[in-house]
Amino acid sequence: MRRILVTGALGQIGSELVPALRERYGADQVIASDIRMPAQTGSSDGPFEYVDCTVKRTIDEVLRRYDVGTIYHLASLLSATAEEKPHAAWDINMGGLYRVLEVARESRSAVFFPSSIGAFGPNTPKDRTPQDTLQRPTTMYGVTKVAGELLCDYYHRRFGLDTRGLRYPGIISYVAPPGGGTTDYAVEIFYEAIRNRRYTCFLGPDTCLDMMYMPDAVKAAIDLMTADPRQLLHRNAFNVTAVNFTPEQLAAEIRKHIPEFTIEYEVDPVRQAIADSWPNSLDDGAAREQWGWQPEYDLESLTQDMLANLRKKLRVG
Ligand code: SER
Repeated sequence: MRRILVTGALGQIGSELVPALRERYGADQVIASDIRMPAQTGSSDGPFEYVDCTVKRTIDEVLRRYDVGTIYHLASLLSATAEEKPHAAWDINMGGLYRVLEVARESRSAVFFPSSIGAFGPNTPKDRTPQDTLQRPTTMYGVTKVAGELLCDYYHRRFGLDTRGLRYPGIISYVAPPGGGTTDYAVEIFYEAIRNRRYTCFLGPDTCLDMMYMPDAVKAAIDLMTADPRQLLHRNAFNVTAVNFTPEQLAAEIRKHIPEFTIEYEVDPVRQAIADSWPNSLDDGAAREQWGWQPEYDLESLTQDMLANLRKKLRVG
C-alpha cells in the first residue's frame, strides 16, 4: 500500500485522525506533518515530518521519500483567524491546497479536502441547506473553502485526480483545541464548565449551528476516502452534520451533569457576524445516500463523553 500523508497533523482534526489512520493501516504507513514540531513523541507514534504547504518543495520531498498515495490536507486557518489575517489565509488555505493538488497530480495521489459550513453565505437557504445551492460566502475563510471545493472538482475533472471532500460543521473534541474558529465556543464551554462552573460565550444565546463530535468527524473522512468511487456523484464538498444546537441549548445539556453551571454572553461582533452568515442547519442526504454517512453521537451522548474525558484530562473528579 502506498502511504498516507496528513498535513496540519497537530491541529484539532489531525490530532485524532492520525491515530485513527495508524490504528487502521499501521503506524509506519501514516506520515504526520505540520509546521510545528510535536511536543512529545511516544513509542507508538509513527513518522513525523516538517511540511510547509505553502512551499511545494517540502511537500514534494516527503511525498517522494515515503511513496505517498493519499494526502489528507488539513493545514488551514479557521474562520476568525482568517478574518483577522485575510492575506495569510489566502496564502495558506488557497496556496497550500493548490500546491498539494499539484504534487498530487504529479504523483497520482488521492486528496482529501475539508470544506466547511463556512463555504455558505448570507444568501444561502438557512435551514436544511441543500447539497447544491447558492454559496457566495462573505468571509475570507469561506472564499478559500468554496474556491477549494471548485479547485478539487477541477483537478478531478481535468486531470482525473481522486479528490474527495466534506463540508464539516463545528467540531467538538477534547484532545487538541481548535483555535481561531467561530464554533470554538462549543469546545471552550466544556473546559470552563469543568474548571469554573461558568462560561462567557462570544456568540449570542440563539445562534443555531450544526456541530459534530470528533469521532464522527474522523469516521466521516475515512468512510469517504474508502468509499467506492463509482457511488460518488459529488466527490467534493459533501454536506455532513450530526447535531444542531444554540449556546443556550448546549448550556442546558451541560447543566444536566453540572447543575450549578451558568452561561453569560459577551457577544464578539466579528464572530457573531460570521456565524450569522452561515446556515442554521445542513441537509446531508447526499452523503447518506452516496457513501452511507451516519453519525453516531447526538447532543446527549457527546456531552456525556466530552465531560467524562475532559475530567480525566484536566484531572478533575
Ligand atoms: N469550525 C470552523 C470555524 O469555526 C468552521 O468550519 O471556523
